[in-house]
Amino acid sequence: MLQSANAPTKWDLGTIPWEQLDVSLVRDREDLFYLVTAASFIEIAADLYSNNLAQYFNGDQEIVEWLESSWKNEEVRHGTTLRNYAQHAWPDFNWDYAYSKFFADYSRKCIISAYEPTHVLEMVARCVVETGTATFYQSLATQTNEPILKGIALAIRAEEINHYKHFYAYFNKLNINCITNRWQIFGAVCRRVLEARKDDAECAMWHVFNTRKVTTKPVDLRQFKLLYRQLSLQIKKEYPLAMATKMLIKPMRLPLKVAQFIEGPVATCSAWILRH
Ligand SMILES: [Fe+2]
Ligand SMILES: [Fe+2]
Repeated sequence: MLQSANAPTKWDLGTIPWEQLDVSLVRDREDLFYLVTAASFIEIAADLYSNNLAQYFNGDQEIVEWLESSWKNEEVRHGTTLRNYAQHAWPDFNWDYAYSKFFADYSRKCIISAYEPTHVLEMVARCVVETGTATFYQSLATQTNEPILKGIALAIRAEEINHYKHFYAYFNKLNINCITNRWQIFGAVCRRVLEARKDDAECAMWHVFNTRKVTTKPVDLRQFKLLYRQLSLQIKKEYPLAMATKMLIKPMRLPLKVAQFIEGPVATCSAWILRH
């Protein structure tokens, strides 16, 4: 069932051939239903926190313009594309109702935590977030034979990598005037990696689960925890650890030999964090 993540597509996120969606390959895949729908919630909610991020970088016109004109629009489009997919593939699910519940909850308590103390370190944190999304979509692309979903996952992955490149370039630009040492950068990477585990995904998944189950039987928290654990393990099984490791240590700008030397231990630590 598992596929290579890198099969090419002849279309992009603006021209999805929905008529080619093979519903029979996904209709009964509860795992994909949860992963796609929860991801659509978080991506669309970019609207909520992107304004705060632009405000944080207020004063740097180039960065603010890119955040508002490119980054935010692309993140929201990831969400609307995944929402459209979910509505085609699983039309019985009340997406609008579930999202309204999620949004009320997320905007109150699941909002992204405090920013890093400096703009340079916040750029490092953004690189970590984009590493997380790029590798998630890479893993998602391996979970299905359905060509439209695979194509969407790969197209979003490409845009997340592009976001990473922008944040990394801005990190370099800002760090010219404010030289940040490697330990500070390492600290920002660790904080964001640990923060990511707390977990926006769990909040989104809970509201998908809650809406799905409320029409069938009483919601069982233990059942949800079990499902969430299983889905996390499934994503981690095909997780591109080497790619994540390279992206995470890049802002430390280590000499090549040192970087090669620590890639192994960092990958081991990352794998441990993912498992626990
Ligand atoms: Fe995204
Ligand atoms: Fe992104």
